[in-house]
Amino acid sequence: MFQDYASVLYASGAVALVALLRRLQMRLELSAAKHPSLAGHARMSRFVAGLVPHYEYDEDTFFRADDAPPDVAAQRQTGFMRLAARFGERYPKSSALTREIEDGVSDLQFISRYRVPFQFRGLVRRHFAGAQFLASSSGVSLTDLDGNRHYDLAGSYGVNLFGYDFYKRCIDRGAERVRELGPVLGAYHPVVADNVARLRRISGLDEVSFHMSGTEAVMQAVRLARYHTRRRKLVRFCGAYHGWWGEVQPGVGNPVPAGDTYTLRDMDEASLRVLRRRRDIACVLVNPLQALHPNRGAPGDSALVDSARRAHFDREAYAAWLRRLREVCTERGIVLVFDEVFVGFRLAPGGAQEYFGVRADMVTYGKTLGGGLPVGVLCGRAGLMKRFRDDRPADICFARGTFNSHPYVMAAMNEFLRELEGNPEIRRLYENLDDRWNERAQRLNTRFRDVGLPVEVRNLSTIWTVCYARPSRYNWMFQYYLRAQGLALSWVGTGRFVFSLNYSDADFEAVADRIVAAARAMETDGWWWQGPGLTDRAIRHRILREMLGARLGRRSVTAAPPPQSEAPAVRRV
Ligand SMILES: Cc1ncc(COP(=O)(O)O)c(C=O)c1O
Repeated sequence: MFQDYASVLYASGAVALVALLRRLQMRLELSAAKHPSLAGHARMSRFVAGLVPHYEYDEDTFFRADDAPPDVAAQRQTGFMRLAARFGERYPKSSALTREIEDGVSDLQFISRYRVPFQFRGLVRRHFAGAQFLASSSGVSLTDLDGNRHYDLAGSYGVNLFGYDFYKRCIDRGAERVRELGPVLGAYHPVVADNVARLRRISGLDEVSFHMSGTEAVMQAVRLARYHTRRRKLVRFCGAYHGWWGEVQPGVGNPVPAGDTYTLRDMDEASLRVLRRRRDIACVLVNPLQALHPNRGAPGDSALVDSARRAHFDREAYAAWLRRLREVCTERGIVLVFDEVFVGFRLAPGGAQEYFGVRADMVTYGKTLGGGLPVGVLCGRAGLMKRFRDDRPADICFARGTFNSHPYVMAAMNEFLRELEGNPEIRRLYENLDDRWNERAQRLNTRFRDVGLPVEVRNLSTIWTVCYARPSRYNWMFQYYLRAQGLALSWVGTGRFVFSLNYSDADFEAVADRIVAAARAMETDGWWWQGPGLTDRAIRHRILREMLGARLGRRSVTAAPPPQSEAPAVRRV
């Protein structure tokens, strides 16, 4: 009897130990699949972000935060003031109106602060008032309130794929087609039927749901994946953006932790191991834009504290990664979601699925698909899209939305889709698309190299980012030199140029000339001076020391004392 009891105890102990070891192993595997950067550690990054104190450079330090000699600092200061004066002369109306409303528009306050590293923000904001107003668009250019024309490199966050005139036409023709019905919601205008047929064909998936934004489409994909798999966790890859919903933004930027999100290393075997072994993963979200900079976040200039920005696109390697992901997800019943809100239709008419030759279980689209109006779309396999169960009538997955399938949006989308599928001129824009844009990027890089400018562009087709070849604290200034050349950038500055496909060779040459001229002016004004010992690592160490000093409430010296004047200081604000 006692022996029986002991063996039961022994057996249960062994089972518990095995379970514990398995849990431990899975935990370790999960840790191994996290990217070593802060972006790979959501909780830690939020903690660290909370420790970063605000401080900013006084005017002396601003120009010699890299200990440049006084003559270089003076050169920079002259250049800075010249540029600021030019902005003041060129954008009086737009700047004045921006200033007038900034207090009342939180979004504007946010973007005007996050254009440059915060230590430099004060002086930049005082001298370069944002000019946030535009009056018109045409071809590949934008005209501001003061009548200045700019080449559009911002691309309306990726919406502008075929040129603004194209979207104006989609909106006008679409509005014409649904005018009789007007903004009636709930029931559908007949254009919806054609949209559904086209989207099913393009995505190769069975069902479609319409939403108001890309963020909502992603939310719906994750909700449905959870509902059908009865699992909670979602996997996203380090650095990937999927909209501003909390669960896909587990780190900095989200005030509450996202406990059901695993952030794993992109393009890494350790992540596949996690997917293969865990039983709690409902879906994997892939933003194919990350192919340009796996494991790195959106490259905004406010984070450009040194020259460590890296990007490199390898189509074959990324396609191979997607194929492996596909295999593992199929094997483990995990829903593979391609979030094509940004890249959809930009890489190929059939989107990233066509471009990389890999099929997802669900695909989200948005941005350009709305034909110029706001939209989010989810396409998915029938078994994943149902919001109810026939055998359990009370077990539903609820999702509606007042403005989903708005007739005007549906009609503009229909114009977009019809042009995409049926207009030979639009189809022609896709011919040799990558070759054309790769060649343009290469040609520009050759020009930079030939004249010894420390700048290089990297691209995923028409999506470009600027990298910097020489350690510098001032790369973010490049955005102002580019703007001064009449190039319109988004608030992330040189982190992302988004070209529309209708850029002709002549348009592009004009842009390339301006980019080179901007880089030359920046070089001439001394911003890329390089002293001995100025490395990216040294820059980061110095910033860390400054932060510690500011945190401890000390005034810390940040530039080596210039020969005659008093040492510049960090001003704690
Ligand atoms: C890949 C991706 N997913 C989702 C979103 C969110 O879309 P929206 O801004 O329409 O909510 C974005 C927006 O940039 C995106 O790039």
